Amino acid sequence: MRTVLVVGVGAGDPEQVTLAAVAALNRADAIVVVDRREELADLAAVRDTICRRCITGPYRELHLPDTERGHGGAEVRAWRHRRATALGELLAGLDEDAVAAILVWGDPAFYDGTVAMLEATAALLPLALEIVPGISSPQVLAARHRITLTRVGRTLTITPGRRLAEVLTTTPGDVVVMLDPACAFLAFPDHDIFWGAYLGMPDELLVAGRVAEVGARIRDARAAARARKGWMFDTYLLRPPAATG
Ligand SMILES: C[S@@+](CC[C@H](N)C(=O)[O-])C[C@H]1O[C@@H](n2cnc3c(N)ncnc32)[C@H](O)[C@@H]1O
Repeated sequence: MRTVLVVGVGAGDPEQVTLAAVAALNRADAIVVVDRREELADLAAVRDTICRRCITGPYRELHLPDTERGHGGAEVRAWRHRRATALGELLAGLDEDAVAAILVWGDPAFYDGTVAMLEATAALLPLALEIVPGISSPQVLAARHRITLTRVGRTLTITPGRRLAEVLTTTPGDVVVMLDPACAFLAFPDHDIFWGAYLGMPDELLVAGRVAEVGARIRDARAAARARKGWMFDTYLLRPPAATG
């Protein structure tokens, strides 16, 4: 049976690739590169740097081209099925006992579709899956701000930005927010925010303080950086005011 290693490679700093990830990449006969349509040159460059620095021998790349995703549940399901099938065809071209690796940004456990895609592929072609955890962007955020994400006996919720308001209504407490192009934090001026963009990368940005005081600065810095670089990855911890948290 073919083996696929899903390898978390950290959130942008090649120094944060773990020894286990290096070992996994060197075990692989082929590296599967998922060519996302929206994928940006900067992110592809990080992936290439990691491969060049960590893989000691020559390596073979297998490119999985992306296709138009469309909108709505049925379209997205069809797109997922197309991708899973295309990956199965790609892997079927390898020897029966081959090992392939897929690099995943950060850790595969957080907002990443690779494991789900491979589960769908494994329904079409027998596969053994192994996951190598990586350092996720929330971990880098905490390290950069020199804070902990969890506080003693408190709840920590992780959410995409579009569900922040709902989360804070149903589960008051500390929240790590990812995938938030709309700056949902601006609706919570009394909260403290620990914000980081391009964490671990040369353009890293960090801001912390009461949302009422730093929220607009974050929104503007975010917009300017996005316009300059063409893409934005940011993550933040939102912490309620001491009296209510
Ligand atoms: C599709 S998710 C992937 C998350 C990734 N698996 C992880 O463990 O961090 C992409 C989101 O992760 C966050 N993110 C990933 N890398 C980041 C970085 N270097 N700096 C800040 N946020 C990052 C952003 O919220 C971004 O919109």
